[in-house]
Amino acid sequence: MNSSYAKKTFAGILSAAMIFTMATAVMVEPNSATFSASAETASSDVIFSADFEDGVNAFTRRGTNETLTIDNTVAHGGKSSLCVSDRAKSWNGPQLAMDKIITAGTEYVVSAYAKTEWYSSLTLSKQYNDSTGTTHYENILAANNDGSSWSEYSNVKFSFPAGSTDMYLYFEAGDSNVKIYVDDFSVSNAPDVAIEDIASLSDVYAGYFKIGTAIGASSLASKPYMKLVNKHFKDSVTFGNELKPDFVLDKAACLADYEKTGDDTNPQVSLTSAKSLLDYCRDNNIPVRGHTLVWHSQTPDWFFKVGYSDDGAWVSKDVMIKRMENYIKNLMELIAKEYPTVNFYSWDVVNEAWTDGGTPRTAGSNNTTSGNSAWVQVFGDNSFIDYAFEFARKYAPKGCKLYYNDYNEYIGSKTDAICKMANELKEKGLIDGIGMQSHLDVSFPSASAYEKALSKFAATGLDIQVTELDITTSDTSTAGLEKQAQAYSDIFDSLVKYADNISAVILWGVTDDTSWRASKTPLLFDAEYKAKPAFYSIIDGVVPKSTEPTTATSATTESTTVSAEEPTTAFSGKYGDANCDDKIDISDVVAVRRFLVSKDKYALTAQGVKNADVLASDGVNAQDAVAIQQYVFGNITSLPVKN
Ligand code: XIL
Repeated sequence: MNSSYAKKTFAGILSAAMIFTMATAVMVEPNSATFSASAETASSDVIFSADFEDGVNAFTRRGTNETLTIDNTVAHGGKSSLCVSDRAKSWNGPQLAMDKIITAGTEYVVSAYAKTEWYSSLTLSKQYNDSTGTTHYENILAANNDGSSWSEYSNVKFSFPAGSTDMYLYFEAGDSNVKIYVDDFSVSNAPDVAIEDIASLSDVYAGYFKIGTAIGASSLASKPYMKLVNKHFKDSVTFGNELKPDFVLDKAACLADYEKTGDDTNPQVSLTSAKSLLDYCRDNNIPVRGHTLVWHSQTPDWFFKVGYSDDGAWVSKDVMIKRMENYIKNLMELIAKEYPTVNFYSWDVVNEAWTDGGTPRTAGSNNTTSGNSAWVQVFGDNSFIDYAFEFARKYAPKGCKLYYNDYNEYIGSKTDAICKMANELKEKGLIDGIGMQSHLDVSFPSASAYEKALSKFAATGLDIQVTELDITTSDTSTAGLEKQAQAYSDIFDSLVKYADNISAVILWGVTDDTSWRASKTPLLFDAEYKAKPAFYSIIDGVVPKSTEPTTATSATTESTTVSAEEPTTAFSGKYGDANCDDKIDISDVVAVRRFLVSKDKYALTAQGVKNADVLASDGVNAQDAVAIQQYVFGNITSLPVKN
């Protein structure tokens, strides 16, 4: 990159951030008893409500013991509330059947007041059966109640996966002896919030690397969330969980196959959990990073046990090699059969096999002792990695690139162990790239430590993908979010530097509230779908690149000057609006850059040329693009630029 166009220092970022973010984030104060997930819900969107003035409404008990009554001594609004007494288990409490109220696969918000008789955890949860009939119990919002004041649940988002049945919302309390009270309960349609008209992250980095994100089946229910995915992350999605072994392995089918054939080396797989996501990627033509084939985590123990039993002996290495091969084969074949048009352009073949010290994991069950590996248990060492890549190469679709993926990848001994392994696999033609998960924090690692790892991985000659980027911060004050923006900007500066070695940068989620590390707000968008300072920090100062086949003239050649077709007379257009869409935004910068690459291929209209000539009225050149970009980012406040 030409240094005068290098990503800017942070001084310029804040002004841009201030112009574009309109300070709308709803902060949940740690000590407040209000649990809020969405600010705006019109009351006309209420589809169910119960104030418990006249009875228990449609609520029932979850267990067989509880008594549901209307209590006239405790109320949030009006004179009474719902009281659940005689609880015997922590999960006992009030529940509301949702099948007749809502549609599975759509997002809603629930508001309520709830309290316990004395101090206890008090959790809003959901229960449902998926399309295979398996029952799931998931917390929506876990909190504590002090036993005297009401906890307010304010517009808390929830959804059930498409195809669910037997859906319930319920409250449960950790102390099985406390009474639970509920009042002023309502369910509303989630507001379909418009997303901001800002630059698309994928477009900004077009020509550098793909920009993608991780989504889960529940993400599909939220319209604003998916608008953000479609606008900013359309180059690539990773399914957060749904293609991991514990979602793909079908235990009942494995046991049935074993009983039928007497062979317990042919694991049966299912795409039921991934179906809605695969449908989405197929219908929207979005490329997929497959994640992940061989991992010590999120893989059931029975996969490694004789006869697929939960408590049997570990199988031999020979049996496990066959199971591994058939698992990969069956999964690849099923995807190819059911989703032949979905572009799986990469797969994480092995995930997290090296410790920070650069040694194999301890043998054992991760489900018993977190961090232990059943793969090491069965193989005795990390030799399973070779087999995994061999089978992935054999069965993955043609052209699909194969990656080793890990976290803390910037810790020296681990970086070196990964490089050594990667070089050996490269020799055998089995690996295409290294995945840097990049679960970072504002204070660790330093950008230079991260960049050092990048340089070592780049030196292997393999491709690099940043596969799960998020940067946590415990400080959500304005200053804290600015610090986070700086951390993101620093990491992206390094990524841009190594762009020739990096084919994709994937964020691990879109909005803070849905992140796996939600309490530390690690992502680019807040719960209100608004871009955070971190977003602006990473688009600031990026020189657009053409993704089209290169022509003789580089997009960043500063001396290129193209004359306007007509001499400038009285100006009646909109300076900066190169593409004449009546807005001045990053797409105008892209339009000018492309025009400078090829006037014929990326023609501007005569008015567009006039609008783009914002400096010195001497025809459109690279300086005009820079000036429009500066205007878009708020570094200058008016166009044209007067000398
Ligand atoms: C995480 C998911 O985001 C969570 O929903 C799940 O509960 C645990 O796994 N490294 C990985 C990812 O490779 O698969 C993990 O994803 C995050 C760490």
